Amino acid sequence: MAIERTLSIIKPDGVSSGVIGKIIGRFEEKGLKPVAIRMQHLSRHEAEGFYAVHKERPFFKDLCAFMTSGPVVVMILEGEGAVQKNRDLMGATDPKKAAPGTLRADFAKSIDANTVHGSDSLENAKVETAYFFRSTEQFSYEWKR
Ligand code: CMP
Repeated sequence: MAIERTLSIIKPDGVSSGVIGKIIGRFEEKGLKPVAIRMQHLSRHEAEGFYAVHKERPFFKDLCAFMTSGPVVVMILEGEGAVQKNRDLMGATDPKKAAPGTLRADFAKSIDANTVHGSDSLENAKVETAYFFRSTEQFSYEWKR
């Protein structure tokens, strides 16, 4: 399987409940390595830009309000099949429907406060990683290979 990069966000509920380390630990256990990472309090403009694809959806306003309610951790994860692997680790968007053992089943409280975001395709991963990180902010493991 190909090495991919995907965007992960630990949302304000994950940060405020103190599970940043546990979440990153789960990624690392499954071979997803952070290659860029930053804690950031999103402005309304940044949140609306990131979620622009959802701007006509009824939940857009609440989603952006939640995502700007406190700091988030944005990171790029690298690994084999990283996009799908991250989605599998997160579980369903609605934590009530998330499979046991997934991040959302274990930590999320509601569909808005659902603890993590992950890119849903390789194409979107390229757009989303570039939204938050310049290429010079992305680490490379090439030197180890
Ligand atoms: P996320 O993966 O960050 O992508 C969009 C977010 O919108 C999603 O997680 C949820 O937190 C939020 N959301 C709220 N209501 C819905 C809904 N009905 N369907 C999809 N996403 C929703």
